[in-house]
Amino acid sequence: MAEHTPVLLDEVLAGLAIRPDGRYCDATFGRGGHTAAILAALGPTGRVVAIDRDPEAIRAGQRRFAEESRLTLVRGSFGPLEERVRAAGVEGELDGVLLDLGVSSPQLDEASRGFSFMQDGPLDMRMDNEAGQSAAQWLARAGEREIADVLRELGEERFARRIARAIVAARATAPVIRTGELAAIVAAAVPTREPGKHPATRTFQAIRIHLNGELEALQSALPQAVRLLSAGGRLCVISFHSLEDRIAKRFIRREEQGDPVYAGLPNVPPHARPRLRRMGGAIVAGEAEVAANPRARSAVLRVAERLAA
Ligand SMILES: C[S@@+](CC[C@H](N)C(=O)[O-])C[C@H]1O[C@@H](n2cnc3c(N)ncnc32)[C@H](O)[C@@H]1O
Repeated sequence: MAEHTPVLLDEVLAGLAIRPDGRYCDATFGRGGHTAAILAALGPTGRVVAIDRDPEAIRAGQRRFAEESRLTLVRGSFGPLEERVRAAGVEGELDGVLLDLGVSSPQLDEASRGFSFMQDGPLDMRMDNEAGQSAAQWLARAGEREIADVLRELGEERFARRIARAIVAARATAPVIRTGELAAIVAAAVPTREPGKHPATRTFQAIRIHLNGELEALQSALPQAVRLLSAGGRLCVISFHSLEDRIAKRFIRREEQGDPVYAGLPNVPPHARPRLRRMGGAIVAGEAEVAANPRARSAVLRVAERLAA
């Protein structure tokens, strides 16, 4: 069975400050590593709602937690977070929300999912591979300018224009439908090499983030998570690249400050008051965890506490 090692597990449990009778949402279930640890810390009346848009993640979760009545698994994007939590039959407030962003090891390791330039497979890259367009379909239709913009903005790729030009030239001969083909086109178009990094890393990241609307889902879910939390409830966000981390960091900072329109005024209405308190700064994995799980190397955890309205 495909495995996923949860990152920053102790740090997440400490960040969530689990209460035995609490109600938690794991918005990125994956293979349930964090969910299992949360359940283990909960008593019989505790509850977890776990969400994933990947049908295979949900199927694996249903098998693994078949006997677990405190868990409800919900298939879908966490973009409409409040709707998903309510669909699980949970009314009222939550004590914690976890977002462990990006892709899981099984998604990366399974060549047929098309996320990896390390092994050849169909160029898919959809987290929900039963909906939406695949990377191959997008690359067949997108204009050169659009491809370049995605690579630059979501991959921070300095050779975005060259790569886009090479893709458009290649598809004039034959459609680009395999991860191996795309990796080779990118490798040939990129003139320099970053140590320890495949030249197609940024391109694959950018296309994946674009196709799955990853940043939009995060932007949409964060304010909903705050609305769902009770006073003292915790928000934990683990990101794996700077674009996501920036969104999480700025969101928490804004929520700490409240509405700037009322800055310095004596009477601040409830809706304009700070809603979050940052619990420390960026938390990263220690040496031992990185040695045991290289995926943890780029993980950054941010924790915030919901303030009373
Ligand atoms: C890093 S993995 C989570 C691993 C999990 N914490 C564990 O310990 O097994 C990220 C998971 O979130 C899912 N995911 C990413 N973006 C999502 C979104 N917008 N909505 C729902 N699930 C999403 C992916 O399908 C993937 O399974």
